[in-house]
Amino acid sequence: MSISKKIHKFIEEGGWIRKMFESGIILKEQYGSENVFDLSLGNPVIEPPQEFHEALLKLASNPRPGMHRYMPNAGYQNTRDVIANSIAKESKVNLTGNNIIMTCGAAAALNVTLKTILDPKEEVIILSPFFVEYEYYIDNHGGKPVIVPTNPDFSLNMDDIEKSITSRTRAIIINSPNNPTGVVYNEKTYQDLSEIFIKKQKEHNRTIYIISDEPYRKIVFGSTVCPHWFNYYDNSIIVHSHAKDLALPGERIGYIAVSPHSAETSLLIDGLTFSNRILGFVNAPALMQNLVEHLQSTVVDPQIYETKMNFLYSELTEMGYQITKPQGAFYLFPKSPIKDDAVFTEELLAEKVLVVPGRGFGSPGHFRISYCVEDSVIEGSLQGFKKVSEKYHMI
Ligand SMILES: Cc1ncc(COP(=O)(O)O)c(C=O)c1O
Repeated sequence: MSISKKIHKFIEEGGWIRKMFESGIILKEQYGSENVFDLSLGNPVIEPPQEFHEALLKLASNPRPGMHRYMPNAGYQNTRDVIANSIAKESKVNLTGNNIIMTCGAAAALNVTLKTILDPKEEVIILSPFFVEYEYYIDNHGGKPVIVPTNPDFSLNMDDIEKSITSRTRAIIINSPNNPTGVVYNEKTYQDLSEIFIKKQKEHNRTIYIISDEPYRKIVFGSTVCPHWFNYYDNSIIVHSHAKDLALPGERIGYIAVSPHSAETSLLIDGLTFSNRILGFVNAPALMQNLVEHLQSTVVDPQIYETKMNFLYSELTEMGYQITKPQGAFYLFPKSPIKDDAVFTEELLAEKVLVVPGRGFGSPGHFRISYCVEDSVIEGSLQGFKKVSEKYHMI
């Protein structure tokens, strides 16, 4: 075989989103794209805020000498300072630009972090349902994913998490607002989880990191707020991205923020900076770093997503679908009315509605809907959802 057995296996096993994407292309060719309702991808349809275009124009018309050159691997100091100030203001934690490493989005930030902290076969706890790529990222750096299912309402099962911590645990990855469920963890969750990890660090006499993957932090609904890990747990690492909050997924810009109270902070930052370099990212895109420096208090309007969510949630629950109501992000994770979520998504596919089976996220028996799409796609999908719900007598 001309590619590694491992990658071949991963391609075969892990292709649910890709499979849906490919089915979508075929269906769109066959029936026309306006007749196919693709709710399978987390690719926001909303355009970046006006402030982004203004900052881009301003920069392009006043180019700074040297602005396309290499830079320190952690990124521009100015950008890092502005980000640190913004987090410090919100969290009331004393943070400087030296605690920030600019990255090519959250995906790079997670890989850089795992590369830096993992020795071979060390364990990283992930909570199902989880973002599909976590298992691969952990494997990339020789680690071992330990999957702990969440409760039926997707809250964290603290007992199970505690039981899963061993003398080889190096980290847990937390994601709130969550992809695929839209759930946001409250302060009590932060407190309880921190207590467990503080206790377990002592018991095993080792550093265990809480890696908080937060690309949806600013996409929350109503009065929902996301607490800051830095206020609860010293060995916390925040991963952020502007893929969703500024609708810039193709531009690959994000960052890592390290708690100023973490063990051996400067060694950790040196390690992260080095990993950013040797993983081949070298540094995050210069142009984007220059722009996001001016956009830390700018965000796409979360109300747009909230309106889409409320509409879809009420239509689907009326049809009998069982859904935990999201408080953020732009996904719904309903229960599949039949045990086999793959069969169920095939049924929806036959109605030209594309969603992803829950098993792709480590939680069979569910399916994921991405509603970061045009209203016409959401509205058009309802007929298919209804037809399938009637088939299974869901009311
Ligand atoms: C939970 C989660 N983490 C990380 C990422 C990767 O984000 P980025 O595009 O910034 O690499 C995504 C993207 O969808 C995500 O949903």
